[in-house]
Amino acid sequence: MSNSYYITTPIYYVNDRPHIGHGYCTVAADVLTRYRRLLGRESFFLTGTDEHGSKVEKAAESSGVSPKELVDRNSDLFKESWRALLVENDYFVRTTDERHEKAVQKLISRLHEATTPDGQPVIYPGDYRGLYCLGCEKFLTEKDLTSEGLCPDHLTKPELLSEKNYFFRLTSYLDRVRELIESDRLKILPRERKNEVLGLFKQGLEDFSISREKVRWGIPIPFDPSQKAYVWVDALPNYISAVGFGDDPSAFSKWWRNSHVTHLIGKDILKFHTIFWPAMLLAIGEKVPDLIFIHGYFTVSGQKMSKSLGNVISNHDLVERFGPDAARYLLLNMFPFGTDGDIRISDFYKKYNSDLANDFGNLVSRALKLLESNFAGKIPPASELRGDETALREFIGGAIAKCRAEIDAINPNGAAESFMSVCRELNRYFDSQKPWALAKEKELTRLGTVLRTTLEGIRTVSVLAHPYMPTKCAEIRKTLGLTPQPASISEAAEPFVLHEGFEAKLSTAVFPRLETPPDRDIAAHTAAAPACSDGLIDIAEFGKVQLRVAEILAAEPVPKADKLLKLQIAIGSDRRQIVAGIAQHYKPDQLVGRKIIVVANLKPAKLRGIESNGMLLAAKGGDKLALLTVDFDLPSGATIS
Ligand code: MSP
Repeated sequence: MSNSYYITTPIYYVNDRPHIGHGYCTVAADVLTRYRRLLGRESFFLTGTDEHGSKVEKAAESSGVSPKELVDRNSDLFKESWRALLVENDYFVRTTDERHEKAVQKLISRLHEATTPDGQPVIYPGDYRGLYCLGCEKFLTEKDLTSEGLCPDHLTKPELLSEKNYFFRLTSYLDRVRELIESDRLKILPRERKNEVLGLFKQGLEDFSISREKVRWGIPIPFDPSQKAYVWVDALPNYISAVGFGDDPSAFSKWWRNSHVTHLIGKDILKFHTIFWPAMLLAIGEKVPDLIFIHGYFTVSGQKMSKSLGNVISNHDLVERFGPDAARYLLLNMFPFGTDGDIRISDFYKKYNSDLANDFGNLVSRALKLLESNFAGKIPPASELRGDETALREFIGGAIAKCRAEIDAINPNGAAESFMSVCRELNRYFDSQKPWALAKEKELTRLGTVLRTTLEGIRTVSVLAHPYMPTKCAEIRKTLGLTPQPASISEAAEPFVLHEGFEAKLSTAVFPRLETPPDRDIAAHTAAAPACSDGLIDIAEFGKVQLRVAEILAAEPVPKADKLLKLQIAIGSDRRQIVAGIAQHYKPDQLVGRKIIVVANLKPAKLRGIESNGMLLAAKGGDKLALLTVDFDLPSGATIS
């Protein structure tokens, strides 16, 4: 196999807003790709959006737009998130692209023509009956459901569906897939996940249906266009359609057949990727992926992120708070890549301040300050090397080797730990040499050596940390007179690269310390309720206020009013426009699809000449504002009592 490397993220459902759970995997793939390139390996990085299925169709219908308009708009939100997070994917696949649709049809035709090793048709017609969760886009078994018979992820009742489908003869490929997994030809990491997958074989797996009769928004089955491809049969082939399975044999051969193929996925989509997908590939005689890495899940303050709980942290939110470089670092370093982790916003601040502001940023500032005051900012020679410097270089050599090994093991945390360990070691070295005392005693030769050694160490960090924090590392490198992008990881190991006499000045701190905001303070915003003289109101007074659940369908800024947003909302079947003073707290794209609480019986009012028919409720604490919402997904129009 060639030395090239092909990495993918799952394609994200467009009916969800991009959040840090999606950002997690996408930034990991970006960081790994950048490291691979630094290591001199050719790489291709794919991400994209999953855009078919009845859920999209329904969402479009309730927003009064066509499915195509909805998917175009929502797919762009993912692209914007990735731009904000400095993600540089090589291709963005959309399942509604004609290129992808044709590739899926080609794959299904190939499956249809194929026979299993024991001579049976791979695809056959059959009847399917099952409990289908629209949210998951999959059939659930009785044992998947909660004790109330609900989908455990969406807490909704699955629908009983019965229809004619075409089936894929999975059972004919199970032995081969299991062998591939057992032998690590198809490697599954972390190890516990491999065991989990092998356990699935023991529980028993059945043929699965590849088509749907009831779905309209999907790819027609080429040999029976009355049926649409089942969402997973539509989605999984994105990994090959994007590299030319349908239309570019040489790209396909390069990136799929002759590269090391890694799929990064979350645990919820394990079975589809590790069993269904390899089996489909085997059935058309194609190579299976080399590695499937299952990363952990983010929960926020102990709960799954969900729109209805209002605890979803968007990628934009993280970028606004910490800047794109730190957001990338923080996303991947709150817990190990292969395990789940619970976070609070305040944890991000703690990590930012301890790792980036203190250990990294402060080191840069301290070294440059002493350089400025003692050498007019000019990089001095290191003419008095002692054991301390040699020991430091040895430590750095070890850290570089560790960084390489961690990337091979798909462990972005380990790679970060390697450059953070260099920062900590440099701080120890710097403090132990007491350069401020050397300055006071005018021991400038030794001081020059200490500063030069520290700056060369910072340069090493600017190479090793570059894939994580490309713009900040580029800034540091430019300050030190280097190219913004290191040519190769081998630069990290060079002891002396900086140009003597180069004037190194940094105008602002690389990672300024940030105040950790107090946890959200929720105070009710009671403007609608008329108060009595003693501040108490009668229940009858309160009863006059009609509070209803509304869904935000669209949101846009109000020109020349930096606090206002114009929202289109649905209260049941009633469509309304309201104007709300929340523009400094929410971006329009964070709002669409959210369920909020509105006062539905307010007299219409005009704000900046724009009619507002109702008022939303929000809680204010200090300078923060949070929308009131329902902690369970109720339909819009639901009343509040
Ligand atoms: N469209 C399918 C994937 C098809 S791939 C051929 C899908 N989409 S998804 O948008 O629901 O999820 C995409 C990925 O995001 C999954 O790997 C899922 O595990 C991940 N995450 C969603 N929420 C997450 C967290 N809170 N934390 C970490 N990752 C999570 O499934």
